[in-house]
Amino acid sequence: MSQTIINARVTFRNSPIHILEKFTIRDVEGAYLQFKEHSGLDECVIIQTCNRIELFGKAKNYDQNKIKKTWASLAGLDEEIFDENLEIDENSKAIRHLLKLTSGLDSMIVGEEQIIGQIKNSITSARNLKASGQHLNTLFDKAIRIGTRIRNSTGISQGGISVGSMAVKLAEENIDELKFKKILLIGTGEVSTLVAKSLQRRGYDFVVTSRTLERSQAFCETMGGKPVKFEYVLSEFRNYDILFVATTAPYFLVTFDRISNAMDKRKNGMMILDLSNPRTVDERVSTIGGIKLMNLDQIAEMVEKNMKSRLSKVKTVENIIDEEVLVLEASMKRLDAEPLVKEVFKNIDSLRQKQLKKALSMLDEKDERKIKIIEELTKAVVESIVSTPMNNIRKASEQGKPDLLEFATKLFNYNKTEPE
Ligand SMILES: NC(=O)c1ccc[n+]([C@@H]2O[C@H](COP(=O)([O-])OP(=O)(O)OC[C@H]3O[C@@H](n4cnc5c(N)ncnc54)[C@H](OP(=O)(O)O)[C@@H]3O)[C@@H](O)[C@H]2O)c1
Repeated sequence: MSQTIINARVTFRNSPIHILEKFTIRDVEGAYLQFKEHSGLDECVIIQTCNRIELFGKAKNYDQNKIKKTWASLAGLDEEIFDENLEIDENSKAIRHLLKLTSGLDSMIVGEEQIIGQIKNSITSARNLKASGQHLNTLFDKAIRIGTRIRNSTGISQGGISVGSMAVKLAEENIDELKFKKILLIGTGEVSTLVAKSLQRRGYDFVVTSRTLERSQAFCETMGGKPVKFEYVLSEFRNYDILFVATTAPYFLVTFDRISNAMDKRKNGMMILDLSNPRTVDERVSTIGGIKLMNLDQIAEMVEKNMKSRLSKVKTVENIIDEEVLVLEASMKRLDAEPLVKEVFKNIDSLRQKQLKKALSMLDEKDERKIKIIEELTKAVVESIVSTPMNNIRKASEQGKPDLLEFATKLFNYNKTEPE
């Protein structure tokens, strides 16, 4: 019987985040052992991100219920919860799903790039733990290469899209020579992290503030930027050309009076991007001369504009995936024949060597040149007899005709123990 590639997943598509996180597998190394021992999988790879928990497996005989049972026991869940949340695909569907992952098509923000790094980490870790083997290693290596090629050739990942990167993009579009401007980031939460990442990536210097200096310092250690005291900032807005404001403060931090005072002392204009909802910049500041105020509405427009360009590429990516699934599936099926083919070549070669040794000893041949010629002859004879049937077995396997493989297994008396 041929091998099955399996994908079992819980993702943001079917499950809200608070449900999804219940399926998290905390001890991945232990989970690999459990899935192999109790679910009939002989290879596994686990992928976990904030939007998905996925198991890829390879098996000859496996039972979906046993996968659920093992996963439920690992995560401390009742099996019933899997009925609404778990999706399972096999073979071409599982391969298609992996290609959608590596090309960014299945991501919440289509084309995002984080997922390909997360998949690379997953297969590297599975490989190191010997949880994956020939089938999944080959599948993942190929899927990562194909995904990268698809991203490059279609541009589906172009123009990094996040609230933070879009805010920085808006600033770039509205301010000349951003790299010579003084940039202030107010807030050290999730959104500020996205802004800081984008500023950092594009090489802009910036300062960061939040109510406690320690928090700003800790933020800057990982995200870049220089920490600055909150009290100082609030009274000295005049020192900054661009303000990114991303806090959950329930009142205006950037008030009309503070900005009005700052602008009295400045020669140049100031851009303020309020990423907070509810707003923490008083909208009236936009009436002060020299102030350009932008908020989440403009950022949402920017995301939409950028997403439109990505979404227009989805069909092209799907078409490429359709073609690649066939090729990948064929190489997976071809792998099914490899253990037998290798074994047959090995056995015949050992017979050849035995007979060659016997013949050379009977001839009592000492001439190295003649010995070489005789040896090459034996190799050529074996090769010419065995290659065609072996290639036919590979081809049949590739074409999804396992009968010939079954027949050859009996014919060559091959015991089906899986090689490591
Ligand atoms: N997360 C998103 O996907 C998303 C997307 C778009 C917009 N937003 C909006 O962006 C804003 C920030 O969201 P977030 O996810 O980054 O929040 P977060 O991770 O909870 O961080 C909140 C930040 O606000 C600061 N803060 C809270 N109360 C404050 C106050 N009274 N005065 C000064 N600073 C205060 C906190 O600083 P301390 O260290 O001083 O506590 C912290 O830096 C929110 O208004 C949210 O609605 C979020």
